[in-house]
Amino acid sequence: MSARLEHLLDDLNPSQREAVIAGDGPLLVLAGAGSGKTRVIAYRIAWLLAHRGLSPRSLLAVTFTNKAAGEMKRRVEELLAPAGIKSPLIATFHSVCVRILRQHGTHVGLPSHFTIYDEDDRLALVKECMKDGELADRSLTPSTAAHRISYLKNQMTAVSEALRDARGPWEKKAALVYSRYDKRLRETGAVDFDDLLLLVVRLLAEIPEVLAWYRGLWRSVLVDEYQDTNRAQYRIVRLLTQEHRNIRVVGDSDQSIYKWRGADVRNILDF
Ligand SMILES: Nc1ncnc2c1ncn2[C@@H]1O[C@H](COP(=O)(O)OP(=O)(O)OP(=O)(O)O)[C@@H](O)[C@H]1O
Ligand SMILES: [Mg+2]
Repeated sequence: MSARLEHLLDDLNPSQREAVIAGDGPLLVLAGAGSGKTRVIAYRIAWLLAHRGLSPRSLLAVTFTNKAAGEMKRRVEELLAPAGIKSPLIATFHSVCVRILRQHGTHVGLPSHFTIYDEDDRLALVKECMKDGELADRSLTPSTAAHRISYLKNQMTAVSEALRDARGPWEKKAALVYSRYDKRLRETGAVDFDDLLLLVVRLLAEIPEVLAWYRGLWRSVLVDEYQDTNRAQYRIVRLLTQEHRNIRVVGDSDQSIYKWRGADVRNILDF
């Protein structure tokens, strides 16, 4: 083991150290901006691999943005590379979901080579869906409709529920656009960013062998920037870790930058 890893704990303050070496089971660390939360996750990963003998393959670290995932990867590699230990999978929720769906998506009706629509593709399709009928007006533009669809999906509201529960003309129109949009996506074998998460929730919740496979694979799961997780991401984490309960999350309750996407501080409180 490299000198750096031998003295891993020297780089940490007492409360960081406590969080890094804590035993198995769930742990939630809430701390302020810039207080070393990401550091705790990176060192925890190094600790598990170097001192607890976990295999890199059995560990999953997720965060919300590409930037945060890149930063975490860089820090973990810096700690592990001198000891010749391979870095585990460190990725965004979305890219983990793409991996899972490329492997097992056929169980939830996805073609094996599904296309992923980005935000621009989504907007273009919403525009098309609003062409026929009386769906576009000043209050419901393609961009507000796209936001509404994303919101509904992240609340895990199915098309049928959105149509049933819509109140007032605005919500009714938005639900109709959602219904057309969803149909078109399915016809073309495409998914949008929100579907990536929702389909994985469905897959893990409905196909026991797939759930068992991932539970067996990732024996320890770590989440950075937990305050940004929405309902679907929360459910994915729960499904993956409910059995072994080796879940570490760090977050900042004052820092939720993705509220509009349905990020939900309740996820912190429900943990
Ligand atoms: N015990 C420590 N010793 C030396 N430097 C530290 C220590 N803890 C944190 N730092 C440094 O402080 C800075 C902020 O740490 P880090 O990014 O881990 O905090 P964070 O809580 O994740 O921040 P954010 O809220 O922005 O996500 C980093 O440069 C980190 O290396
Ligand atoms: Mg951080």
